[in-house]
Amino acid sequence: MSIRSSRRVYSVAFVADPLPALEAARGERDVVCIDKTVFDLYPAVAAVAAKGPYRLIEPCEEAKSFDALGDILADLLAGGLTKSDRLIAIGGGVTQDITAFTASILFRGIDWLFFPTNLLSQADSCIGSKTSINFGAYKNQLGGFHPPAQIVAAQAFLTTLPRRDLLSGLGEMMHYFCVSGREDFAWASPRIARAVDDPGGLGPLIRRSLAIKKDMIERDEFDAGPRNVFNYGHSFGHALESVSGYAIPHGIAVSFGMDLANCLAVRLGLLPAADRDEMRRALLPLLAGTVPDIGDGAAFFAALRRDKKNEGAVVKVILSRGLGQMFKTSLPLDAAAERCIRDYFAGAQWTKDLCETSEN
Ligand SMILES: NC(=O)c1ccc[n+]([C@@H]2O[C@H](COP(=O)([O-])OP(=O)(O)OC[C@H]3O[C@@H](n4cnc5c(N)ncnc54)[C@H](O)[C@@H]3O)[C@@H](O)[C@H]2O)c1
Ligand SMILES: [Zn+2]
Repeated sequence: MSIRSSRRVYSVAFVADPLPALEAARGERDVVCIDKTVFDLYPAVAAVAAKGPYRLIEPCEEAKSFDALGDILADLLAGGLTKSDRLIAIGGGVTQDITAFTASILFRGIDWLFFPTNLLSQADSCIGSKTSINFGAYKNQLGGFHPPAQIVAAQAFLTTLPRRDLLSGLGEMMHYFCVSGREDFAWASPRIARAVDDPGGLGPLIRRSLAIKKDMIERDEFDAGPRNVFNYGHSFGHALESVSGYAIPHGIAVSFGMDLANCLAVRLGLLPAADRDEMRRALLPLLAGTVPDIGDGAAFFAALRRDKKNEGAVVKVILSRGLGQMFKTSLPLDAAAERCIRDYFAGAQWTKDLCETSEN
């Protein structure tokens, strides 16, 4: 799959085993930035990384902080990195964001390559050019657009995914299939439900999810308009991730975010309850096992107001009028909306009998 961006055309190679491509790509001056868990789980990959300069990335949000970035830059510059050297990221979304952001600002931009190792990064984040780091409590608020020179998505990495990371990747994929529309949703939902217990059939889901994203980012690379619909589930999802101290992984938080957005849309008379229920049915296997708690809601609402998509007093969110009918709107975060959100979490509304909730 090749992707056109303003900076370059880059491609995703789908392979079974990462080693041949990694050995071919790894230049002796390239700096490999590798997820520590992946380094420990894949000794042969670690051995190639260790053939030259490399750094281990702790897969956590603190590693994406402005302060941590300073240490990385200091080490790379002290190590003699030059404009013609490259970074090679091996890991998930965190490793990607750190590496891409670093590559984008060093010498006004150096090349980087990406070996995504979990489902979220293979099915979503690896394309789209976005680079982000956190600034204090402000998640992903520093960043830009700096696509990799090459992406190699190796199936072998997906055999060691913990269940929560599998569910997280499936949740992120589900959001593409909801945004894409009824045909993709109907095709993907049963496959996603099966993949929860048998990740063997992920290949076609990964390719289709990326194809939906590719189509959009080639039209709106810089998220200036149409691409905004991919924020569906994300404003609420980011707030949930934040109040959970990132214990709830991104794609699971986004899955709750979509269901919550749908509940709000039903309440506002924008979405038929039956449509919310249809999407909820498909989301349920991804939500099961996670019990989010927003306490009195104060931290959740503060996080929602901090979201970078907000302009002024209103909260900008993506709501849905049905599958494939997502749109950006200003949601007044007034007492009624806050009550609806509190009730949603306090009543574990996503677990409720679908007939019972369809009247709400
Ligand atoms: N740049 C973008 O377009 C973009 C898009 C979506 C998300 N993100 C960012 O990505 C982050 C979330 O991504 P993530 O969920 O991949 O986080 P992550 O990189 O922390 O990975 C999640 C977990 O998967 C583990 N893992 C990775 N590969 C594995 C493997 N092969 N076997 C076993 N475990 C493995 C990691 O060690 C980690 O514990 C967030 O910071 C989010 O903001 C960026
Ligand atoms: Zn996402």
